[in-house]
Amino acid sequence: MKHDGLNRRNFIGKVGYGTLAALAATSIPSYGSIFSKDTDKLAIFGGKPVRGNKPWPRWPYVDEKIVEKVTETTRSGIWCRIQSATGTVPTFEQEYAKLLGTSYCVATGSGTQALSTCVEALGIGPGDEVITSPYTDMGTVSAILTSRALPVLADLDPDSYQLDPDDVERRITPNTKAIMPVHIMGQPCEMDRIMAIAKKHNLRVIEDSCQAQQSIYRGQKLGTIGDLGCFSFQSSKTMPCGEGGAIVGNDYDLMEQCFTVQNHGTSRQGRHVTIGPKYRMNEFEGAVLLGQLDGIVDRYNKRNENARYLTEKLKDFPGLRPQKLYEGTESGSYYLYALSYKEAHFNGATRAQFLKALSAEGIGLSPYISNGLHREPWIDHIVGLDSYKKMYGEQRLEAFKAGMDLPNCDRVCNEMAMLWASGPLLAEREDMDHIVDAIMKVYEHRDQLKSI
Ligand SMILES: Cc1ncc(COP(=O)(O)O)c(C=O)c1O
Repeated sequence: MKHDGLNRRNFIGKVGYGTLAALAATSIPSYGSIFSKDTDKLAIFGGKPVRGNKPWPRWPYVDEKIVEKVTETTRSGIWCRIQSATGTVPTFEQEYAKLLGTSYCVATGSGTQALSTCVEALGIGPGDEVITSPYTDMGTVSAILTSRALPVLADLDPDSYQLDPDDVERRITPNTKAIMPVHIMGQPCEMDRIMAIAKKHNLRVIEDSCQAQQSIYRGQKLGTIGDLGCFSFQSSKTMPCGEGGAIVGNDYDLMEQCFTVQNHGTSRQGRHVTIGPKYRMNEFEGAVLLGQLDGIVDRYNKRNENARYLTEKLKDFPGLRPQKLYEGTESGSYYLYALSYKEAHFNGATRAQFLKALSAEGIGLSPYISNGLHREPWIDHIVGLDSYKKMYGEQRLEAFKAGMDLPNCDRVCNEMAMLWASGPLLAEREDMDHIVDAIMKVYEHRDQLKSI
């Protein structure tokens, strides 16, 4: 693919993406004069793939220390957290609180359970409303529904994919009790504004940090800014144990209430005091987490380094826009590395055509969530339930349903092209170059994409 001493990366290095952006913004240039299309044919049409089958770093991460911890737990016979105050789960809770800089941590069986425990512990229930994002895992909404509260969805900032604070404020009613911001992709919401709105309207903030392991916003780790913060340790996450979750916070009474709720309403003193399911983390999950704790920060730093490199390479390319980060974002978990696909810059080729061509080059990006949660059947389900009609009244439920017009979320769903990044962003610089090269190769052949 050499031409006048330039290969694709040198060429991009020399002209810079700024130049490509400028070219693309005016007319769509043809690189046929620079690159030979015979040697540089798209892989989907029989050309040589940019990456081929080179594997990405394995995920979930496994090493001997994790295996040893699980073996130790198996042999110990301490398999349930209430068997010992020094078992893996209580130890993990202490270590995790230390890592995040909070006073307390309560582990749970999943991120959904962590969120659900917080809703119940804050006394939010029938008749109450919680404002959250439509662009998230169903676990976020499910955590509100299990206490029979009403999950009110606000629209997004279409460039950051995060809750739009203005729309959050518009949706506050006298029944709103909390905001549940979701740090989607593991990058921070605009927390300054969300916290200010919460303060002004006297609302609680439960951070859904399920994707946001270790991310830092204005010097604070995500999950430690609101009243309570929740994490997920499900297999794909950047700190996985199969299924698992945690709540962190600094308010002793509230965190004790969280412990009691997730312990089927039973306090540490053994009194049966409140309503709660059994959401306890088990000792094997605790062992897997403890076994990997040492490497968490190194892996986090590596993902940030690779993400910064990708963003630097792509930042001026108008065809794929990296996720907008708010001022104050110091680092992100990069559970997902997200880009918005701009069809107009690919001669009108659809995202599906682009992704197919890219995949043939050995780079798999995903459209991620196909529908915002405002387009899923749970809305009609709860609006039709007698119990919800009794709790909220038909008029409120009609207005709730009518409020499900969230065009920015629809746009995000249509444009998203993201990398499952937990493993891939631990790869080397050459692997990051494969991603950029494959994108640019497909871009250069954009006139062919419509025939895919
Ligand atoms: C943003 C978000 N919230 C909540 C959850 C629920 O976490 P879990 O799967 O551990 O229940 C997830 C999991 O994917 C998530 O990504």
